[in-house]
This record gives sequence, structure tokens and C-alpha cells, in this order.
Amino acid sequence: MSSTPTNGTAIDLAGLSIGRGFRPERPPALVDGERRAVKYLRLSVTDRCNFRCRYCMPDEGVAFEPRAAVLEFEEIVRVVRAFTRLGITRVRLTGGEPLLRRDFVDLTRMIAAVPGVEDLSLSTNGFLLPPIARELRDAGLRRVNISLDTLDPGRFRDLTRYGSVERVLEAVDAANDAGLGPVKLNAVVIRGYNDDELSALVRYAHAKRALLRFIEFMPIGVDGFWSDRTFMSVDDMMARLADDFIVHPLRGFAHEAGVVGGGPARYGLLTPRGGGEPVEVGFITAVSQSFCSTCNRVRVTATGGLQECLAYPGQLSLRDIMRQGGSDDDVTAAIERALFQKGPGHQFDPRGGGVRTCQTMSVTGG
Ligand code: GTP
Ligand code: 5AD
Ligand code: SF4
Repeated sequence: MSSTPTNGTAIDLAGLSIGRGFRPERPPALVDGERRAVKYLRLSVTDRCNFRCRYCMPDEGVAFEPRAAVLEFEEIVRVVRAFTRLGITRVRLTGGEPLLRRDFVDLTRMIAAVPGVEDLSLSTNGFLLPPIARELRDAGLRRVNISLDTLDPGRFRDLTRYGSVERVLEAVDAANDAGLGPVKLNAVVIRGYNDDELSALVRYAHAKRALLRFIEFMPIGVDGFWSDRTFMSVDDMMARLADDFIVHPLRGFAHEAGVVGGGPARYGLLTPRGGGEPVEVGFITAVSQSFCSTCNRVRVTATGGLQECLAYPGQLSLRDIMRQGGSDDDVTAAIERALFQKGPGHQFDPRGGGVRTCQTMSVTGG
């Protein structure tokens, strides 16, 4: 028996493994309660960060998890193994800032060695990347996504409070040199803050052979920063970009546009009005056009909390199952049960009185 969910992926329902002890030769397709195939694990390895981006974390008074609450390397590997047994092939390491985790290169090597992990990637602010980019590549990391909201040094400092744009630009070069490409750049667009830099970011990314993605600012994080004045929709971004580029219709998600990756960005070409090659750019319409019907991912927080959806704090602690002596089968069965409860998605639309979640991305993972 098979069914086709909204993202067009065929799911083998006969291969569904619910309950203990089911051991097919090929990993079964993990599906959620809405029958979406779940293929992408986003794993936070720390809730700490060396930046304090104004929209994400307050400067002071952030209560971080005690070390004992955070998963040990062996526990993280067990979690990854549980997911690969369920058919997950992509793993993204996030945080907080994942490179703050001590011995991160060793952790990367351990995760890369788990059978079934095909696309191991990292989301980072880039600050600590340059000296270890090559080691990470050698350890099995395939590619990196780097946050870059502004190219202006003063503005970057102001936005991140402790960051330095020079270091992050160095990280883009280091990642390219180390073979961690295609490097993707994530720019959260905040009206009145960096919306005058859209074209400059496109040109910079093109010069570096990086794939830029513009992200709609979501009502997540520091209270009071997000509002309908700071929010800018992708349609408005495109209208602004149209001053400098011919904006072609979006081609689709990564697999439809021939881009490596499995995230929520949809890609399209921008042709410079003054002439020159078209540039591929991604747009993440998290607020104006939800992509939840095509959701293919699941998150695990640094403390082992299974979070089915970015927008809602999860309830299930994989750490507690493991620390109370649960077997690998117990872990996989709990994951399947929890994902079966996953709802259709979030309601971020500011005009629709949408959900506002205060759990910051530094806890949930980017
Ligand atoms: P690849 O395509 O595999 O490179 O991954 P990606 O685009 O998912 O990677 P990344 O972690 O860089 O995600 C980019 C941004 O997309 C995140 O920082 C979030 O702002 C947003 N995002 C990622 N996943 C979700 C999601 O499930 N829901 C929503 N609303 N936003 C998401
Ligand atoms: N809206 C959109 N993206 C966000 N990020 C953090 N907070 C938000 C938000 N409120 C992004 C960061 C980074 C990734 C980890 O998450 O900019 O690219
Ligand atoms: Fe998936 Fe939730 Fe993100 Fe929507 S908000 S795409 S359902 S994780």
C-alpha cells in the first residue's frame, strides 16, 4: 500500500514500523501524523551562543541548561542511530552555536560514522569556523550554512552584540576552501534594519559562489523585536530586489531547483539589470506562505527533547528514556509515537492572529 502526501513523496505505508522489535532490512519510512515523510533530523548540540543577536537572545539573564542536562556524545550518537534506523538520511547540527561544544570535531566524526547518515551539515554563525573548517571536512561534515544578516561591520556588531563580520566573511572563505560547499548564507530580513542591503548581499554571495537565502523574520525569540513594522514579506523583498535585478518566478524547493539540501527554501534566479549572470537565491517564506504541508523534519534539542515542530515546544525527553535504561527499541518506538502526534503546522501569519512562540531558536535549533 502506498500513499502520496502533499510534497509528492511516495510513502510505503506497509513499511511503517510502529511498536517494538520491527526490523525490516531497509529502514522504514518515518511518517508523521499528517503522513509527511520525515527525512531530516535537526540536532541541537548546545543552547549556548557566543553572539546575542538582538532578535534571538537578550544580552543578559539567559538561563542556559546545566551541563548534566545536556546529552553526552554517546547519547547523541544513540539518538542519531535511532533516527537512521527509522530512515532519516539528513542530519543538520545546530545550536545555539554548535562550534561552542567542546570537541565538536570528534562529535562530528562520531555522527558521520553512523550508517545511514548521508548528508551531514552544520548551521553556524561562522565565528569559530576558520581554524577547524578542514578538520570538520575530514571528520565527515559535508556542508555548512552560515548566518549573515548584514555586511556592514558596525551594523553586524550592533545586531549580534559580540560578532565581527570580518571573521564571518573569513569563515565563508574557509568553508569554500575546505570543500564544505555549496556554502549557504542565511539572512533574516528585518525591515528598517537590513532591508537596504538585499542587493549587496546577493552580489556578495554570487562573488563567493555561495547560495544566499533570505528568511522572513519569524515571531520567535526576543519579545518586542518582532512586529508588523520589522517584518518584511518575501513579496516585499522581491519588490525591493527588482530595482537591481529581474526577479524570475521561483523554481521550487531545493530538489526541484537542483540545489543540494532539504530545507524549506524555494529557489529562483535574479538577473542583474546591468547585465551579468543570473544568480540563484533562496527565499524562506516562513510567515507569509507556510511550507508546513511539505515539512520533512524533526528536531532534537541539546537536552534530548524531541521537538516535532519549530513552532511548538516538544514534550518527549529522549534523554530520560535513555538515562532510565531504555533500549534502542524504546527510543525508536517513542520517536514514532511522538511524530504520529505532530499536527499540520504553525500559524505565524501576523494578520491571522497567529501563534507567537517565545522559545528562542537558540534552544530549538535554527
Ligand atoms: P538545507 O536546505 O538542507 O541546506 O537546510 P535548511 O535550509 O533547512 O537550513 P538552515 O538550518 O540553514 O535553515 C534556514 C532557516 O530556515 C532557519 O534558520 C529557519 O529560519 C528556517 N527554518 C528551517 N526549518 C524550518 C522549519 O521547519 N520551519 C520554519 N518555520 N522555519 C524553518
Ligand atoms: N526568524 C527567522 N530566523 C531566525 N533565526 C533566529 N531567530 C529567527 C527568527 N525569529 C535564524 C538565524 C540563523 C538561524 C540559526 O536561525 O538567523 O540563521
Ligand atoms: Fe515543519 Fe513546524 Fe517548521 Fe512548519 S513550523 S515547517 S510544521 S517544523
